Order: sequence, then C-alpha cells, then structure tokens
Amino acid sequence: MTKNLKTYIFQTGHGKGLARAEIQSILGEDSVLDEVYDGIVLKTEITAPKELLNRMGGTVRITEVIQEGPVTMPINFASWVETAIKAEVKDKSAKFRFGLSMHPKSEKILTKTLTNSKKNLKSAIGNSRFVNKDFQNLSSVQAWHENLLAENALELHIFKGESKWYLTKTLAIQDFEWYSHRDYDRPARSARIGMFPPKLAQILINLTQPDKKNTIYDPFCGLGTTLQEAILMGLSAQGSDIESHLIESTRENLEWLKKESKLDFEMPKLFAHDATTLTKNDLPPNNFAIVTETWLGPALTKPPSPLELPKIQREVESLYEAFFANLKKIVKEPTTVVFTAPYHRDKNNRHFLPNLPIILKKHVKIIPLSDHSRPSLFFERKNQFVSREIWKIVCEP
Ligand SMILES: C[S@@+](CC[C@H](N)C(=O)[O-])C[C@H]1O[C@@H](n2cnc3c(N)ncnc32)[C@H](O)[C@@H]1O
Repeated sequence: MTKNLKTYIFQTGHGKGLARAEIQSILGEDSVLDEVYDGIVLKTEITAPKELLNRMGGTVRITEVIQEGPVTMPINFASWVETAIKAEVKDKSAKFRFGLSMHPKSEKILTKTLTNSKKNLKSAIGNSRFVNKDFQNLSSVQAWHENLLAENALELHIFKGESKWYLTKTLAIQDFEWYSHRDYDRPARSARIGMFPPKLAQILINLTQPDKKNTIYDPFCGLGTTLQEAILMGLSAQGSDIESHLIESTRENLEWLKKESKLDFEMPKLFAHDATTLTKNDLPPNNFAIVTETWLGPALTKPPSPLELPKIQREVESLYEAFFANLKKIVKEPTTVVFTAPYHRDKNNRHFLPNLPIILKKHVKIIPLSDHSRPSLFFERKNQFVSREIWKIVCEP
C-alpha cells in the first residue's frame, strides 16, 4: 500500500531536544524536516493522531500543515486563515468557532489576522467567533476546554521556521487531565523520592524503541511510574527496588491504575533487590529493555555547597560503577538501557557527574542522543536544583 505522507508540526512541551529524539525514535530519523520555534516539522503517515499523542511525553499537540510560504515574502495570514476555515465549515447556520496562535508569539500579527479574518468571513460563512482572549495565544488547556476539535470549530497555528511560515490545524491535544491524575492522585506517594513525571517516563520508554513484545524493567522502580507508563503503552513491565516498602507502594499504585484505567493487565513481577547485585535469574527472560530513573543522591533541601557536591557526585558515580559492572556480567544479549542521572544546578552552572562518561565507556556502548560533546539530553524544571540527564546505552555480555 502506498503511504499517505503528509507534513505535520508536533508542538513540543519540555525541551525540543528530548521531543525530537522521541519523535525520531517512534517515526524514524528521516521523518524530521525542520525545527520551528516550539515545534518539529515532519513528513510521515499518521492514521490515529490521538492514540499516537497519548503515548508521547514530549509533544503537546499534533498539528497538520495546510499552508506554507517563504519568510522572505510578505504573507496575508488572514487569507490563509479564511481559506482554512471555509474548507472546514459543515453547517453555515451554526456559528463557527476558531482559535489561532502564533509561534513565536506576536500580539500584533495575531490581532490583525484574527480581526481581518472574522470580518472577511462574514459574507462567506456567516457569523464566526474566535476564542482567543485579549489576542493571546491559546494554551493546550484552553483549546481543550473550548472544544476546538469538535465539528464547526478549528484550532489553527502559525509557526515560523528558519526559511518558511507554516499554517497548521490541530489534530490532537495532549490529555493533560489524565496525565495530571496519574501523576498527582496515586495513593502511594513520597516527598523524599520526589516526582518522576509520567511524561518523562514515556519519553525514556520511547527512546528504547520498544515493540509490543518488549518488557520494560526498572531496577530502581521507587513508586512505579516507569512501570505504570509501560503498561499504559501496552508493554509488559517488571520492577525492583532496594527498599521493600517501596515495592509495596508500587503494587498499591498499580492496583489503583488498574481501577482508574480499566485495563485488565497482569500485575508485573515486583521484588526487593539491590540493583548492583542482580543475578541472571532476576532479569526478565528475554526481549527486555531497562528504563530507569536511578538514585538521585541524598535528599537535599538546598543546593549542595562546593565542598559537598564532589562527595555526592562520587557517591552516585560509585552506584553506576557497581550497577553497570554487574549488569554486563548477567545479560545474555545486547540490552538497551535508557536512564536518568542526576545533575546539580546553581544560578550559573550545571554540574554534571564528571566521571559518568568514563564509567559508561568502560562498561557499555553509548548511543548518542545528541551531538553535544557529552552526548546526552536533559530535562529540568525551574526552581529544581537537582535535574535529570538522560543517557541511552547498550550493555553487551
Ligand atoms: C529517584 S527514585 C526512583 C523513583 C521512581 N522513578 C518512581 O517513579 O517513583 C530512586 C530509587 O532508587 C532506589 N535505590 C537506591 N539505591 C538502590 C540500589 N542500590 N538498588 C536498587 N534501588 C536503589 C531508591 O530506593 C529509590 O526508590
């Protein structure tokens, strides 16, 4: 069957680097054509945008390109918007609702485009209404509440790329309510372990490029976020942690997930074990990848002092040394591991674990996730002084 290739812009959430790596893992390296302000332009075939978006942590909207033009020429954006709306109108007797956002933001262009298109559309389609308040961009939450994916409604975006302007229409918006429910409403929580965002767990799982037969194993499973997300993606899961009470917490959270998601999944194998002394029999029998947020170091209430930092870094590094030295002895075949390592931030600097690349090179093969000299990616949130660096490696027997 011939492919129905179209051009899309995936609007990215936290960081374009991670979102791009996730997109390329799922849709192929060559799918990406361009980067725009907060999005990635790609050519691919998408049959079920909502289902695709539900399993992607790094993308907040999937939009389809319906017009494009060079940035070097003046463009009448209102006429682009009018053409797009006219093509969507199903029922002229009902008021058509639409929203438009500019990336990057430009209140001036947005105001002019919205007002002109509403005025010009009157004779062609009758009354229409734009839902932008005070000529501001629409967040994905607003677009969701305005029900702009329903009939007789449309959400549009204008993205600026290196050489082109793109007009796109939204096909799917991230289900933020379900993300938030499974992030904040789980019964077993822990302030000490901190929050591992489900979206980040999804990105890490996608970076292993799993197929449906894969098991995702998290040997530092804590409260079980990785396992939860693997199960929601239709994969098998297995978890262990050094602390047995956390294994019970994971079990409680997964029982909750079963009720909330109405998915009838088998409870994964869960056991208490030190990840640095796992044996062959502790690993899933075959077809598995390891996805894990490893130990972040001791819980801190303030950024570590210049004297404390190297001590913490050595402690965390020695865990990696022991974990990978052991893992290499027990795997039967090349095994993909995608993991997060902590790094510390102060006002001016990121302090990555200085010896982690050396430890990795000694034991495993690094799969670059970026073209930085340190070929990792990172995920950080404002006001957090411990952030997460993301690595992909293959551990060979
Ligand atoms: C940052 S937490 C992981 C949290 C997890 N991603 C979640 O969703 O809750 C790190 C976990 O590593 C565990 N841990 C620390 N040292 C360990 C070791 N040597 N072996 C196994 N687990 C260990 C801790 O008990 C903790 O639960």
